[in-house]
Amino acid sequence: MLITYHSHSCVRISTRSHEVLVDPFFTGNPAAQTSADDVPADFILLTHGHQDHVGDTEAIARRTGATVVANYEIASYFGHKGLSTHGMSIGGAHDFAFGRLKLTIAHHGSGYPGPDGNMLYFGQPAGLLISAEEKTVYHAGDTALFLDMKLIGERHPIDLAILPIGDNFTMGVDDALHALELLKPKSVLPVHYNTFELIRADVDGFAKGAEQRGVRPVVPEVDRPFEL
Ligand code: NI
Ligand code: MN
Repeated sequence: MLITYHSHSCVRISTRSHEVLVDPFFTGNPAAQTSADDVPADFILLTHGHQDHVGDTEAIARRTGATVVANYEIASYFGHKGLSTHGMSIGGAHDFAFGRLKLTIAHHGSGYPGPDGNMLYFGQPAGLLISAEEKTVYHAGDTALFLDMKLIGERHPIDLAILPIGDNFTMGVDDALHALELLKPKSVLPVHYNTFELIRADVDGFAKGAEQRGVRPVVPEVDRPFEL
């Protein structure tokens, strides 16, 4: 499969038959190189209900007809808007046309700004375990470090872990490096950093620390696909 990092937390997984887009944040994302009008998608997977992850979901799903897969609350919200959706909950897995998806815990928030400045309840934040073409990708979403990452790694050998390193809202570099010791993935793609000043992070330091732990760091240019 091919993995394309579209900046922030947005990653696209291209299998031989499907385009699986995670957390499609393009409009208003200063690090994005692609327009939401151009990105392909058969499925859109969402980790949680924050704007920098929900992003352009509605526009892309309307244009492509992609199915939005998310927690039950987010799926219901987009279902009411007429999109094709599939709701899940943490701990549950389902076989889709592209492969298998399981939602895991994440420690974070998931509110979405409503029309009057009130916060809509968008369910529990999640991590995503995506298995397709004999590979397993773990997208941690936005999360703190948590000890159950050990369980996730033991139950599901991970080829690529996608971990936030930007600090302030999520794990910083030190905690993300410790996460590697729990998850034991073969390779790691750091995300959720340098999009804004507040989440500036030392990605080179993270890459070195990953290597020291026997994990291959992958730090691709935005929009340049790599083979997993
Ligand atoms: Ni968030
Ligand atoms: Mn975020």
